[in-house]
Amino acid sequence: MSVFEGKHILLGVTGSIAAYKAADIASKLTQAGAEVDVVLTEHARHFVTEVTFRAITRRPVLTDLFDEPEERQIAHIHLAKRADVLLVAPATANILAKLAAGIADDLLTTLALATHARLVIAPAMNTVMWEHPATQSNVRTLDARGALFVYPAEGMLACGDVGAGKLADTPTILQAVERVLNPPLKGVRVLVTAGPTEEPIDAVRHISNPSSGKMGYAIAEEAVRQGAGVTLVTGPTLLEPPAGAQTVSVRTAQEMLEACLQVYDDVDVVIATAAVSDYRPAEVWHGKRKKGDEEWTIRLVPNPDILRTLGERKGSRILVGFAAETADLLQNAQHKLCEKNLDLIVANDVSQEGSGFRTDTNRVTFLWADGTQTNLPLMSKREVAQRLLEALRERLFQR
Ligand code: CTP
Repeated sequence: MSVFEGKHILLGVTGSIAAYKAADIASKLTQAGAEVDVVLTEHARHFVTEVTFRAITRRPVLTDLFDEPEERQIAHIHLAKRADVLLVAPATANILAKLAAGIADDLLTTLALATHARLVIAPAMNTVMWEHPATQSNVRTLDARGALFVYPAEGMLACGDVGAGKLADTPTILQAVERVLNPPLKGVRVLVTAGPTEEPIDAVRHISNPSSGKMGYAIAEEAVRQGAGVTLVTGPTLLEPPAGAQTVSVRTAQEMLEACLQVYDDVDVVIATAAVSDYRPAEVWHGKRKKGDEEWTIRLVPNPDILRTLGERKGSRILVGFAAETADLLQNAQHKLCEKNLDLIVANDVSQEGSGFRTDTNRVTFLWADGTQTNLPLMSKREVAQRLLEALRERLFQR
């Protein structure tokens, strides 16, 4: 049975020259068994007519916020409630701005605010509009909120320019909708550790490291998008907790270990990106230690190794570590892989430009326990997260 069978899809069509291509999308979705409610914006109606979509979907086409097709039901609330996906294709720069700002001044934008359905957006516009910082900022806002973008392709545009802005093709858009309806990590429970830990010296001082948490947060966010149940155990960071993940905030390595053990029984995969302080002060001063002329020696004692502790009682879980190294990258990573009883270690040379702490990018190598090795080029932490989850998915389904 097709994944679209019996699903309710709201298809928002906005005023782009590519609006005619939405007829093909509506047709393919309908043929695949979905119930498609098409909403045309006022501008879209300059390019396409209701008649086309009504004939294709064999359902009423909606244009007006004050239409009430079913008795006593407020149309938009009813449609919003039962939708499985809200697909906006083609999406203009204008609709992206309105969606990002939460404006609800017509039926489509009102539906977007009134629904819990996942939003899939396929933009189409002139290259300059697409690349405009305002548009790109709206894309980032919507993306961070969980919308799935089907990015425009490059090609010859209606205005004669050549560049990015062409509506993605129908199969690519359908694939994205399918992915939302049937998320690849559905049913998989993932624990992610992220950020630094802080080990207090006194009431105002601590030992820590410059980890920003970006890599772990990107993995947690991406895993949520792919349908996993995610617990993020995080040390102190400046990042927003990822929507849809259960986030547990901790300060010290010991607190991080306890938080991980609390959920460990229920998880299938652990991805440890946290830069855990290996040592903590043996004694913590009460209050603030006043300065003096004498030397101050702080005695440090080892912290628990969280990942190794989890590795000792691994069961059938998949355990992934990150190795932050400044020398002998692969040998050190390989050693940690064995020592902590991991399935995979992501080796990361933090001394290289564009890699490691506080950057938005990373250049990493995957080292598997079975000896397989994959070197990835420099890419965004988000892409590293995607590649990592893709690789884990294969292993999970092999089991
Ligand atoms: N890790 C952990 N608990 C620790 C130290 C590390 O869970 N106390 C995890 C990290 O989250 C990472 C992996 O172990 O996934 C490797 O961390 P890293 O700091 O690279 O190595 P260490 O084991 O601390 O060894 P070293 O500092 O000597 O390189």
